[in-house]
Amino acid sequence: MQMKLETPLKLKHIQIKNRLVMAPMCMYQSDDTGVVKPFHEAHYYMHALGGIGLVMVEATAISKHGRISVNDLGIWSDDHIQGLKVISERIKEAGSTSCIQINHAGRKSVGQYPFAPSQIKMDGKDELPKAMSLLDIKETISDFQKAAIRANEAGFDMVEIHAAHGYLISQFMSSLSNQRDDHYGVKHQFLKDVIEAIYQVWPLHKSISIRISGTEYHPDGFDIDDVIKILKACDLSRIDLIHISSGGNIRPNIVTLASGYQLPLARKIKHELSIKTIGGGLLSNHEEGEEALQHDDCDMVFYGRLLLRDPFYFLRHIEKFEFPKPYQRGKLLKEKS
Ligand SMILES: Cc1cc2nc3c(=O)[nH]c(=O)nc-3n(C[C@H](O)[C@H](O)[C@H](O)COP(=O)(O)O)c2cc1C
Repeated sequence: MQMKLETPLKLKHIQIKNRLVMAPMCMYQSDDTGVVKPFHEAHYYMHALGGIGLVMVEATAISKHGRISVNDLGIWSDDHIQGLKVISERIKEAGSTSCIQINHAGRKSVGQYPFAPSQIKMDGKDELPKAMSLLDIKETISDFQKAAIRANEAGFDMVEIHAAHGYLISQFMSSLSNQRDDHYGVKHQFLKDVIEAIYQVWPLHKSISIRISGTEYHPDGFDIDDVIKILKACDLSRIDLIHISSGGNIRPNIVTLASGYQLPLARKIKHELSIKTIGGGLLSNHEEGEEALQHDDCDMVFYGRLLLRDPFYFLRHIEKFEFPKPYQRGKLLKEKS
């Protein structure tokens, strides 16, 4: 069967109506409380109305001290559940699958005293992080677990563990940021423990994704073979999707950016681990996504900035997609290509 963006995807327990993923993207529209604002309700609803099969809510902080910015969404308190529930319900009402990405930013956290696997800062202008004690590690794994409990209570179909972009989990995976000489100096250990903590609380009928950087673009950092080793050391039995991005643990990332530059990473993980992947990066039209599926680089395709500039792009470009009823009079058939 020739895979197309509109082809549904069956995961272990749920079916997604098509192969399109809205990439998680921080919108920095909350405030110090981390609660959902009317903007978030409208934003995620709109993208679901735009036909996206899997709508991912942005990196949401599992701890007040683990935020990327003071305007991040939060999931560190039960007070966040109600607002997040409105988002998941709207996504589902529009016929899409809802996912929330949970994150701790580690040494990239905002605030005066960030913590990290080791006392190594990213670069000159950053705060020197505190090296995490074993108690900090235990509490942070428990914060990931509590975030997953809240994500379930908020009604999400899928939770995504953010292990990419140089945030806390990927800091543990990298020699650039993890030089511990204890148990957690083993590069897969923290990710493995977070996954297992989430398995204890996440319902069996729901899905789990992991977002991972496939390489750090640095000779002393991890590359795709290291990432595959790390993933192989973890229990992936309940993981539905590995969502592949790259970089983020050093500034600047030295990489030549071109459409689909991360797809070979997705392809390697898909085939070496026999697992479904989400691939993408710098894709600027539907044809490029379709090519990635046909080339078997990935099972789903993520789009980020294309959707920010044009939330209804896919309604206009994929013939099979139905405009939401109230919008049907706006449909211009000649726009479909
Ligand atoms: C405004 C913005 C916010 C982002 N926030 C996140 C985030 O919360 N979590 C994440 O994993 N990636 C984040 N990313 C990265 C995107 O998910 C995506 O990988 C990146 O934009 C490349 O895809 P694109 O070329 O299709 O935009 C962000 C990107 C942008 C532009």
